[in-house]
Order: sequence, then C-alpha cells, then structure tokens
Amino acid sequence: MLHFVAALAAATSMLGLAAAEPAKRQSAFPSLPFNVEGPNIVDSAGNTVKYAGTNWPGHGEVMIPEGLQYKSVENILADIKSVGMNVIRLTFAIELVDQIYANGGEDVDIGTAFVEALGQENGTAVLADVLTFNPQFTASTKRLEVYDYIVEAAAEQEIYINLDNHISSGEWCCSATDGNTWWGDTHFNADNWVRGLAYMAEHGRSWSNLASFSLRNEFREPSNNPAVRATYNWQTWYGHVKEAAIAVNEANPDVLVVLSGLNYDTTMQPVVRGTALTPGSETFSKDDFPGFQNKLMIELHNYQGTATDCNALWGGIYNGGAQAMNPNEASTANVFPVIITEFGFDMTNQNYQGVYATCLGERLPENTAGWMIWVVVGSYYTRQGIQDYDEAWGLYDHTWSAWRNPAYVNGLLSEMSERTLA
Ligand SMILES: *[C@@H]1O[C@H](CO)[C@@H](O)[C@H](O)[C@H]1NC(C)=O
Repeated sequence: MLHFVAALAAATSMLGLAAAEPAKRQSAFPSLPFNVEGPNIVDSAGNTVKYAGTNWPGHGEVMIPEGLQYKSVENILADIKSVGMNVIRLTFAIELVDQIYANGGEDVDIGTAFVEALGQENGTAVLADVLTFNPQFTASTKRLEVYDYIVEAAAEQEIYINLDNHISSGEWCCSATDGNTWWGDTHFNADNWVRGLAYMAEHGRSWSNLASFSLRNEFREPSNNPAVRATYNWQTWYGHVKEAAIAVNEANPDVLVVLSGLNYDTTMQPVVRGTALTPGSETFSKDDFPGFQNKLMIELHNYQGTATDCNALWGGIYNGGAQAMNPNEASTANVFPVIITEFGFDMTNQNYQGVYATCLGERLPENTAGWMIWVVVGSYYTRQGIQDYDEAWGLYDHTWSAWRNPAYVNGLLSEMSERTLA
C-alpha cells in the first residue's frame, strides 16, 4: 500500500500535476495503521476516519462470535455493510486465552466448545447448524480460527475490527456481582488480563483490518466484594491501564489503544480534564505511554434510554468525556478521539422514535469519532443460563434472518452511518 502511494505521488509529480492535486489522496481500504491527531483518527494517508458500526459479541460461554448457527459469516457482514457501517466491535473473553495457556498453547476446537457450553445434546445440534451455514468450519476448527475467518471476511467487505476485551470469564457481561468488575475480583486476575490482551494483540498482527483494541469493557464497582471495592478508584485504574496499554502496544505497535472508564464506562472525566486521579494526586499524562502517545483514544457507553431531553442527555455524555473532542473547551486538558462503543435500546417497540434514539442519531455523527450500537445479535447461543436466548435489543430478529426493527435500521441507523462516514 505504501509503495503504491509513493509510486503514485512520484508519477503525479513527474507529470507536473502535484501542485494541482489535493494534499491528501483518497485512501484505499484498509489504509492502516491509524494514528490519532488531536480529536481525530487519521489513516495512513492522513485522512480523517470515523467509525460507524455495531457490536458483535464473542465473549459468551462458547467463546466464539454469536449467530453462526443461523447465518453465514459473509451474510452477517454483508448485512452490517448494507447499513453503511465500516466497523465491528468484536468482543472476546480473557478465559479464551487462559484456556490456550492451560492447554499447552493449543486452542480449543469448536466441537468441544459447543458441547462444554451447551451440553452434549444441544452442543452437538447447534454445532451441526453452525457447520450447515458455515461449511468452511469443522468440529475441529479452533475458536481463534473462527475469529480469523470472520476478520478476514470483514476485510474483504472493507469493515474494520475494533477488538474488545469484554470480560474475563466467558459469559454475559456486566453486573456488580459477576466477579468480573475490577482487578482482583473473583474472576478478574490482573496478570491473566494483561497476558490475554498481549496474546490477542500479538495474534491480531496478522489481521489486515485490525484498527483498534479496547482494553476492557465497563469497569464497575463490585457490590459484593468489600476488599476489591476499597480499590475502586482512578489511581488504581491508572496503574493497571498503563501496564495493559504498554503491553498491547509492545505486542502490536500499529493498533490504536482504546481506554475505557469507570461506572460502566460512562465517565473518563478526570482523564479528559487532567484532574487528580484520586485518591492520589497524579494526573493523566500521555507521556506515560512512551512512543505511542499518538495511538490513544477513549470510549464511552451510554444507556440513558429514559432520557426526555436531548441537551441533557448529550450534556451528560459530554461531561463524561466526549468533551475530549473539543480542544477549545477551557476544562479540556487532554484531547482524544472519543467513540461511543455502546448504546442501544429495545427494538421491539417505539423506542426508536423516542428522545434517546433520535438524540443520539442526531449528535453522534457530528460530535464523536464514531459509534457502535449494541448489538447485532438476534439471539445468543446461551446467555444467563438460557440457551438460544432472544435478544430484544438486537438489530436482527431471533433467527438472524431479518432486521428486528427495519424502520429503525433502514431509516435512522442507516442515516447515522451515512452522516458519520460522509
Ligand atoms: C436444549 O435446547 C432446547 C431447544 O432449544 C431447549 O429447550 C433446552 O432448554 C436446551 N437445554 C438446555 C440444557 O438448556
């Protein structure tokens, strides 16, 4: 790609056209690596890039991306593309990597993964459906080979990957009692976390369209673990996040590193405002991320579905950290691209016409570096103990065969993609 651009520039200047050319050339996908310039993500040609996309979870009990028992990888991606989207937030569990280490470096095959997650009878039946729709796989295909396949198929459809560590144990996320809330919680081992991130970042070096890497989904305060609760603060956060960001960057220097905040990733305020990371007095400094200050961005989530006032809703997101997009704001000390990596609502009623959906539809394209709606999934292999769990918030219907709410997906959501990527 770089060779091609250089050759093109040389040819153009030989023709004496360089002065008449725009400074920046159109980027050909994927135009990676991305870097960060102020509040913008820029591609390798220097053009600003934004994200419009959806979450595609793979962190459930089976620990591969959902829905493959109902549809082919290619058709799911084509549907996402048809909404005008250019990215998927692909999630994984640290347990996936823990099992690889426990298994002498070898990943678990999907035949085993389905039976362990769903039981002998249902696991076998669901796997058979997966193989019907996705005959490129067999029972002995490894879980990461499924990820590899999805990522490559996404590249073919010019869709970027934002890889996201969603949880440590492979299961539905997130609650204050799930043992995955914060470092030291029952299932959230700090060392395994960094090891897992580094493993996936290294693995992702072969993914041509891996653009960004989210360190962890939705830090939160545990309600059932007083010892861990006592360490729930920004000072603790900074120590672990620095270590993980450096580990990811060392394993994969090209990828953007996405930092997420407290209270279910609804606030990054002290980071953005440069105020004390309490209870300490240290403040966030990009110098603490040596050599990759230009790879850092932040993500926020919002689920204020009951909002009645758009300005108040957006004000909350802005104060939570979206002000990092605004270098002119007096209280903004640290400028970053901000992506809203989760928002969503029940697709089965009129919510899509309410304040929340329409307000985010209006504000996110102009005021962020991108967004990913929760969630493409029509149903999960299993969730919270219920197999074939119907996802009312899903873009797809139960069997992943049509949009659950076509009026929203073909209407406002498609318009959001178009305005974001225009
Ligand atoms: C197995 O699948 C059937 C049909 O989807 C379901 O009714 C049943 O609850 C599943 N078994 C378990 C153990 O979840």
